Amino acid sequence: MNFSARCFLLLALVLSPAAWSAEATAALATRPDGAVIASGHELATKAGLEILAQGGNAFDAAVAVSSTLAVVEPISSGLGGGGFFLLHDARTGKDVMLDARETAPESATAAQFLDRNGELDRDRSVNGPWSAGIPGLPAALAQLASQHGKLPLKASLAPAIRVARDGFPVYARMAAGYASRREVMERYPGTREVYLRNGKPIAEGDILRQPELAHTLQLLAEKGFDGFYRGETARKLLKGVKQAGGRWSADELAGYTVKTREPITFNYRDWKITTASPPSSGGIALASMLQILQGWDLKSLDEAHRTHLVVEAMRRAYRDRTFFLGDPDFVHIPQEVLTSLDYAKGLRSTIHPEKATPSDLLSGQPTPLEDDETTHFSIIDAEGNRVGGTQTVNLLYGSGLIPAGTGVLLNNEMDDFALKPGTPNAFGVMGYAANAPQKGKRMLSSMTPTFMENADKVIVIGTPGGSRIITMVLLGILGYDDGLSAQQVAALPRYHHQWLPDEISAETGAFSADVVKQLQAMGHRIDLPGDSASGGRGSSHVWGNLQTVEWDRRSNTLSGGSDPRNPVGSAEVQFNQPAN
Ligand code: DON
Repeated sequence: MNFSARCFLLLALVLSPAAWSAEATAALATRPDGAVIASGHELATKAGLEILAQGGNAFDAAVAVSSTLAVVEPISSGLGGGGFFLLHDARTGKDVMLDARETAPESATAAQFLDRNGELDRDRSVNGPWSAGIPGLPAALAQLASQHGKLPLKASLAPAIRVARDGFPVYARMAAGYASRREVMERYPGTREVYLRNGKPIAEGDILRQPELAHTLQLLAEKGFDGFYRGETARKLLKGVKQAGGRWSADELAGYTVKTREPITFNYRDWKITTASPPSSGGIALASMLQILQGWDLKSLDEAHRTHLVVEAMRRAYRDRTFFLGDPDFVHIPQEVLTSLDYAKGLRSTIHPEKATPSDLLSGQPTPLEDDETTHFSIIDAEGNRVGGTQTVNLLYGSGLIPAGTGVLLNNEMDDFALKPGTPNAFGVMGYAANAPQKGKRMLSSMTPTFMENADKVIVIGTPGGSRIITMVLLGILGYDDGLSAQQVAALPRYHHQWLPDEISAETGAFSADVVKQLQAMGHRIDLPGDSASGGRGSSHVWGNLQTVEWDRRSNTLSGGSDPRNPVGSAEVQFNQPAN
């Protein structure tokens, strides 16, 4: 009997949080009684549910969610970008990470990004054709369907094609994002063709139709990889990049490959954590932070002391990120050492229980903050398959360049490379040789789709947020370990430290005045929202957009948590039709 015969949709279900409880059973359930999806846009969540109802599995649903996000969240991700997809196959018990990170075109050498004075040319690194890497997302969609899904790519892409063709209402964040990127976007005819109506930019509430993108998706649906990387779409992409002054070759488009990588795994207390491996920095940093932290009973500590220790773990992991991490196909990463318990124990021994370690005492150079675009979705299906997908075009609306006739907004991921050693990028992040650009290399990322499992629970978690992604996932893991629900985890207040600048940044309300005082007394500098002395950088930022799902095997309950900071996100449970 196929899945659709067994299931029916209860679409009137809870929006956010989503929850459904079966009667508690003494034994652990071996399969969920349904499926759950959380994503940054309700149309994407619904697209995934629609595909499950047609008999698809979590991987087919991931194609539907990812491609629909690519249509409705151009501020965050799209066919012109890339991402990481963490997959759990319930049948084999295997976990893999599909690495669909963009690659550097041959023409985009470090020298191309320097101006006459040898300084980083910021316009080139974040705007237009030079800022774009060769996209990976379309190849990931094709691979998800052909190697993991049950349905043809055509079926799983149908919802995205429909939304691109028929349109969707522009939401506030999208319109505001356009306003802030308008000057760059309107440089390019292909972008103007999508975003201007009689010379006026899109506004909140307008219906945005993207017929060119629908056509590009249709070609992908019909021809798979070749429908994007060869033939009509490839020709248009190459032409658009060339007309805008850049240089890609047909060979590097046709030669793009998704890499199937082994995820990072480690234990934190009774949890098995499975997470993103390089070229993401997330998994290694998480392993380091959590293995440092498991030396203490965090639950027994007051908030100030707990925060102090968490911050000290963050500081040390981000120092290592700066120097050691990059594309594992190009640089040697001492992964075994960095993720080992012994290394974490060594770092732990350098932490004073009452005093902040000045970051200057840990050798190296500064790495300030990244911003908060990108998008994440989490899925568990009725067979127990899981997907955590984090995908991006990097900054708001990526490079701003849509090659005419494609509807595909290209990423500006080249800025995630250390284009000039030791010079900060758009987010103030810097790096060195390990993350220098090179033909075909993948730029270092912070995207961290993650699974957590213990005897009772199975969880998928992830978020956007640039370099803060990793610490948001860390706080989410600690929240689950404290016994919070999926929705509580999505709503948790957030704080962050990344070695340099040597300060804790925090969301409004993350700490009480008393905790701030105690942390300051331990020697921490805190970037408080609205505090002019500290720059108040925390105040204007939305910190991420966390989407998480949970299967409690003891009660056989599915639940989802969708970040309340994003009003258009949604988590929904779809459950099996009870047997007659
Ligand atoms: O891969 C990365 O780490 C970044 N390109 C992600 C960017 C992100 O989360 C958006 N932040 N503005």
